[in-house]
Amino acid sequence: MQLFIDSANLNEIKTAVSWGIIDGVTTNPSLMAKEQGIDFKDAIKQICEIVDGPVSAEAVNQQADKIVSEGQDLSRIHANVVVKIPCTIEGLKAVKFLESKHIRTNVTLVFSPNQVLLAAKAGASYISPFVGRLDDIGEDGMAMVEKSLKIIRNYHFNSQIIVASVRNLEHVEKAALLDAHIATVPFKILEQMYQHNLTDAGIKKFLEDWAKVGK
Ligand code: E4P
Repeated sequence: MQLFIDSANLNEIKTAVSWGIIDGVTTNPSLMAKEQGIDFKDAIKQICEIVDGPVSAEAVNQQADKIVSEGQDLSRIHANVVVKIPCTIEGLKAVKFLESKHIRTNVTLVFSPNQVLLAAKAGASYISPFVGRLDDIGEDGMAMVEKSLKIIRNYHFNSQIIVASVRNLEHVEKAALLDAHIATVPFKILEQMYQHNLTDAGIKKFLEDWAKVGK
């Protein structure tokens, strides 16, 4: 499973990339808004220079023709840019067009298997089911991912599923157990993935024992 970092914070992205486990980045307008005083296109360019992999930059227009020209504009920033487009009729029309021009898209704000089917039929390179937001309304986000992967595999669609809106370690673990193509994970959860009490205790004990050998 590929691991993307879900962040627009350059320090977080640089740090996670330095760990050697990051395959790409997803951003969205809310993540961008958290970064004070940045220029959107400049930030995307900088992220693309840090990460050798797909970097999702979200289009904010709502009409297909406007999404297309915004997407073309974004794709000119860097070859790594993937245009993130919400799952609407206008959005999927734009996806179809952009993919026909070899501009990769990531269909976002996906909450149902039917939306996955439509995004796949439109030819999206990536499709992002939002598990955390489904859990928030009492639904089972990971069950939706399982259905989404089945649809993609049943019909041999080329789209890759990005498990998005990841809120905890269990989401990442389940994504991997379901053979999801990608999970996009916030920095604080990436950090938690490394941690285990027994690892800390084990290191402490090994170092104590090693110190005795030294003596
Ligand atoms: C994914 O592409 C989105 O940027 C992100 O995962 C949304 O997460 P949230 O529901 O925690 O805002």
